[in-house]
Amino acid sequence: LANGLAITPPMGWNSWNHFNCKIDEKMIKETADALVSTGLAKLGYKYVNIDDCWAEIARDDKGNLVAKNATFPSGIKALADYVHSKGLKLGIYSDAGYFTCSKTMPGSLGHEEQDANTFASWGIDYLKYDNCNNDDSKPTVRYPVMTRALMKTGRPIFFSLCEWGDLHPALWGAKVGNSWRTTNDISDSWESMVSRADMNEVYAELARPGGWNDPDMLEVGNGGMTKDEYIVHFSIWAISKAPLLIGCDVRNATKETMEIITNKEVIAVNQDPLGVQAKKVRMEGDLEVWAGPLMGYRTVVLLVNRGPWRNSITAHWDDIGIPLNSAVEARDLWEHKTLKTRFVGNLTATMDSHACKMYVLRPVS
Ligand code: DGJ
Repeated sequence: LANGLAITPPMGWNSWNHFNCKIDEKMIKETADALVSTGLAKLGYKYVNIDDCWAEIARDDKGNLVAKNATFPSGIKALADYVHSKGLKLGIYSDAGYFTCSKTMPGSLGHEEQDANTFASWGIDYLKYDNCNNDDSKPTVRYPVMTRALMKTGRPIFFSLCEWGDLHPALWGAKVGNSWRTTNDISDSWESMVSRADMNEVYAELARPGGWNDPDMLEVGNGGMTKDEYIVHFSIWAISKAPLLIGCDVRNATKETMEIITNKEVIAVNQDPLGVQAKKVRMEGDLEVWAGPLMGYRTVVLLVNRGPWRNSITAHWDDIGIPLNSAVEARDLWEHKTLKTRFVGNLTATMDSHACKMYVLRPVS
């Protein structure tokens, strides 16, 4: 969407994956504090996004959305001011239907302009727009109404289409939003994560600065996968130019979780200015090679072992788009080491089950 936002994929945090409906202003503020104190904000995680369940079930007598008094007594404007004072941005959630998915609050269908104006007046920077409880008209009809309403407010608001991929939003999302879900909801398991990655990969060609494919938010740190599996999760999201929206409780993140989500070199791949989503370029059973171009004639390669045993995987230059006889230097982004050997034609690495190797290859003469 040409609103000047999302030149690189958005980075931040969202309440849903960890907290579901158990959210309140104290937790959101503490999360904002934690993003700053842990250094995550400095690394680019700027959006603090409130998901479903933040509003009263009834609008006020003027038809405005009202923050839930029991959990957000100070109101959303005060929360936005707080989050902004920390140098962060506040995101909120609504739905292109009569009620949100939780059915605990209204959706914005039929109230698009009024709600967009409310969000802008509160200082909202990001809107995630869900698809539950609608009138059965097409999302291609309902979503653009909110796009126009947001544009009319004059406030740059990142617009995240949460249509779950049903009507292939990747095919129409670029004019409507800054990101679009390509999948239904992720859960905190290896199977769920890799299947979201696969569904999202199909649309790789359609990602570009201003509009990104969204395989759903991160589960890193929520406990359902091993460290290696979370590294695969974060690596695939990074090379897929997916939104990097942390989905765990950052106030209590472990050292292991922090090590993954603070990997600067992997974040730099996600935020690379070229903005090209990597693709799966070779599959041999459970062994996969993903690759894509980066600025400066560099190439990012991800070798993923989805199988049950330790195995080796080879990236061939003709698969990953490097001229056959060129020599490259390889930087291992998880070991933080530049390999001593130079590689010509291919690179092979060995890794455990459900683990990966991620390299940036740079041509050398
Ligand atoms: C469905 C979305 O896909 C989720 O990410 C989350 O926003 C829930 N709805 C909230 O009800």
